[in-house]
Amino acid sequence: MKFFVDTADTAEIKELEATGLLDGVTTNPSLIAKSGRDFKEVIAEICAITEGDVSAEVAATDFDTIMKEAHVLGAIANNVVIKLPLTFDGLKACKQLTEEGTKTNVTLCFSANQALLAAKAGATYISPFIGRLDDIHADGLELIREIRVIYDNYGFDTEILAASIRTPNHVKDCAIIGADVATVPPATLKALVKHPLTDKGLEAFLADWAKTGQSIL
Ligand code: E4P
Repeated sequence: MKFFVDTADTAEIKELEATGLLDGVTTNPSLIAKSGRDFKEVIAEICAITEGDVSAEVAATDFDTIMKEAHVLGAIANNVVIKLPLTFDGLKACKQLTEEGTKTNVTLCFSANQALLAAKAGATYISPFIGRLDDIHADGLELIREIRVIYDNYGFDTEILAASIRTPNHVKDCAIIGADVATVPPATLKALVKHPLTDKGLEAFLADWAKTGQSIL
């Protein structure tokens, strides 16, 4: 399973990139607004930090303007992935960009039928939003399960990029179901390594090691 970090905070991205566990980055207009920075400048900086795929979202909703924006964003770096809304104009742009050899991420997916359309349009990634479905008492993980079955039934290459992840359990459940990628907020990504018994066990081992008076180096 690939791990993307879901943020436009370049300090967080640098820190996580240094672990060697990061496979890419996703951003969205809300995360760019939160960063308070220039969109194209921040995408360029992220693309210089990581060699992994970096999703940059178009702001237009009509096909012609989506294509113009996609070409501007795609020119920033060769690891930019164009993030497109799950609308007919977004899907039409997805097909066109795929034919041009550009990677795409179709976002705001809330149903299996939407994911089927994105795969037919040749999307590199489909982003089903788990947390936002859970927020309205729907079942976000069930959507991941349905998409996995459909993509496997037909051998679609589109990767399932589980998004709107809120908890470490979301990550684990997506891995069990077989999502290809999870895009995770920095705090949740860092929480994956934590276990109280690991901390307690390490503390005891270090205390006992100190008693031996030995040194490995
Ligand atoms: C995915 O690409 C989105 O940026 C993100 O996962 C949305 O998460 P949220 O529902 O927590 O805003």
